[in-house]
Amino acid sequence: MCLMATIWSSAWSLPDPVLWARGNVAAAKGVGAIAIRIIEPYTLTESTVPTSKHRLLKIVVAAGAFAAGVSPASDFPEWAYPSCAALKARSTSDQARPVSVPVPPRALSPDKKACGYCHLQDGNGRPENAKLAGLPASYIIAQVRAFRAQQRKAAQPGWLPTRLMVDATTDVTDEAIASAADYFSRQPAKSFVRVIEQSRVPAHVVSCFIFAASPGSELSLGSTIVELPVDDARFERRDPHATYIAFVPRGSIERGRRLALTGDQGRTQPCATCHGPALKGGKDSPGPALAGRFPTYLFRQLYAFQTGARREDAAQPMQSVVAQLTQQDMIDLAAYAASEAP
Ligand code: HEC
Ligand code: HEC
Repeated sequence: MCLMATIWSSAWSLPDPVLWARGNVAAAKGVGAIAIRIIEPYTLTESTVPTSKHRLLKIVVAAGAFAAGVSPASDFPEWAYPSCAALKARSTSDQARPVSVPVPPRALSPDKKACGYCHLQDGNGRPENAKLAGLPASYIIAQVRAFRAQQRKAAQPGWLPTRLMVDATTDVTDEAIASAADYFSRQPAKSFVRVIEQSRVPAHVVSCFIFAASPGSELSLGSTIVELPVDDARFERRDPHATYIAFVPRGSIERGRRLALTGDQGRTQPCATCHGPALKGGKDSPGPALAGRFPTYLFRQLYAFQTGARREDAAQPMQSVVAQLTQQDMIDLAAYAASEAP
């Protein structure tokens, strides 16, 4: 279970952290939802060891903010941005090293800042980062530059995975980025996620930037996506063949398919126009492939275009696509695209 969640729960007898991570403000009686927003800027970095002093500070700051009546946007999709209180312990354990290193190009090494550490050696990525395999090299280069220039951010300010991506780009030469982009663009895109429609889902808790199954009774999915590894140990080992299940709301895949196909009378635009037939991308499409990618990742991107967190010039075509979409639409589109073969 998330470390901070444990502290909060014991301090104020909050309900299960999953409830607030999923934005269930009512169930958390307001306090939990505020707490998770305030804590985020203090989330551990790789160089920050949690001391009891840090924890106390967080609690004091959050309690003060609560008293002052600071409240987050009530519809912020917290569920799409799981945190990770135990990052330090996890990323320094031997298990967190890549399991296999196929002859890497220069930009790849077992170093934690190497692209393959996060996006995995074959570039098929994990739900908290992104699938790079098979994306056009020019698109990969443009995105890395956008992160470096801070034109591409996460919609949740300071969300650690995105911050670490930015860190990874700061001291990389253009030549190294080009070589990494060339390498990842040649890797075959594969899907490791099974998308399942269900209104009640197994008990789960916030793990490290993702959910993990836990003992307990089923929970209602509501209007969210719960994506989690089938086998936590393989996820922790950064096994490139680890598989995932994404629970999505009932009916979302078909709703997403219809919306993607028709644009619903101008509410949005047919996605295949720019993302290629069956959303598989390709040489003639201005947008990257979407099929078979992690649905939580896809949702975060749609939401980032809408909030303006992702606003580099090349992202302009997406602004009008998302302008009128609801979060439910974005969940539907993500569920549909993720369920297609890459
Ligand atoms: C510490 C982990 C980490 C490292 C190291 C890392 N990335 Fe990332 N990368 C991420 C995360 C997390 C995201 C998603 C960020 C978001 O969506 O806000 C991302 C996103 C991307 C994207 C966007 C993909 C898309 O479909 O738009 C590209 C391209 C990318 N990374 C390339 C690279 C390259 C090249 C390197 C090596 C120079 C690298 N990354 C190193 C974590 C990392
Ligand atoms: C007019 C062209 C156009 C249309 C129509 C369009 N897109 Fe896009 N989309 C793009 C471009 C271009 C990008 C890359 C933006 C960038 O470089 O930052 C993109 C990026 C994205 C991304 C981020 C991908 C990644 O790897 O991070 C998602 C998700 C996405 N689009 C979903 C959709 C969906 C869903 C639809 C249909 C409802 C759609 N798009 C319709 C042009 C389009």
